[in-house]
Amino acid sequence: MAQTAIQPGVHEERSEYVEFWNDTLADKFERFRKILMNGLSYHSEIPLGNLNVAPGSRIVDVGCGWGDTAMQLAQKTGPDGYVLGLDCVDRFLDKGRADAAAAGLTNIEFVAADVERYPFEPEFDLCFSRFGMMFFQNPVAAMRNIRTALKPGGELMFIVWRDIKDNPFFALPKQVVLDFLPPPGDNARSCGPGPFSMADPETVTKQLEIAGFEDIRFERIDGPVTVGDSVEDGMRFQLALGPAGEVFREAGELAERKRGEIEQALRDALVPYQQDDGSIVMPCSSWTIRARKAD
Ligand SMILES: C[S@@+](CC[C@H](N)C(=O)[O-])C[C@H]1O[C@@H](n2cnc3c(N)ncnc32)[C@H](O)[C@@H]1O
Repeated sequence: MAQTAIQPGVHEERSEYVEFWNDTLADKFERFRKILMNGLSYHSEIPLGNLNVAPGSRIVDVGCGWGDTAMQLAQKTGPDGYVLGLDCVDRFLDKGRADAAAAGLTNIEFVAADVERYPFEPEFDLCFSRFGMMFFQNPVAAMRNIRTALKPGGELMFIVWRDIKDNPFFALPKQVVLDFLPPPGDNARSCGPGPFSMADPETVTKQLEIAGFEDIRFERIDGPVTVGDSVEDGMRFQLALGPAGEVFREAGELAERKRGEIEQALRDALVPYQQDDGSIVMPCSSWTIRARKAD
């Protein structure tokens, strides 16, 4: 049976990060869903396209958001397989539930949960995640928990951003906003360790080894990302989400007082990336990381 709320008894208290995803980021993600889906999908296209899934495989997609990768995996594993999509924001999962029903997929469930604390059984052949692994309060504890979801020899495959300097679509707007506002303080509310917290292969390799994974591989994917249909759209996206959005949000009233100047500076910074159709396309870069559950 699909469950529609974060499980009482299992998740009585939400972590501060899960709280933040729900009370602050969810609305903004919904508002910019088109941009996000376009940008994030680019990075899973090749890894998922090349992924061999044995028919009947059981797969968990962690931090699955609106569920599109979970649905692709459900198609790959076929009617004898099963996909569980987990995310800490239940309203994202409603979209997945509706899309899966519309597509006639009966081998998929979406459950609202904090992956870090979910009571997994060792029933899955593969754990997949597209940009859903960088936000755990304690990444090694979360990886260990994910390990308990895997059968012996089970695989983990996840996609994360490379360093901010390799991602101008995040770095440039952040610098523009920092020309006007102070950086977020130590007590800033946040989504967790953050989008670049798994950018360093050495650190992530060590984390995975400590969590009980082996055969760890990194594949780099570079590509263009559309950050808006127009300069105005791109500017609004950048002020709402990502590192620039965080600086703006945390600066509170000061940011609002300077809003006009900041918006104009962002527009100016985005214009060089404008395409013939008006859209804004910028470079970005990710890692696809694969590992196997160690014995
Ligand atoms: C950048 S989004 C990626 C969503 C989706 N995988 C995609 O590529 O479209 C990160 C997702 O991780 C989820 N998330 C963050 N921390 C989580 C946690 N502790 N447990 C479950 N989901 C989490 C967020 O709610 C969000 O949907």
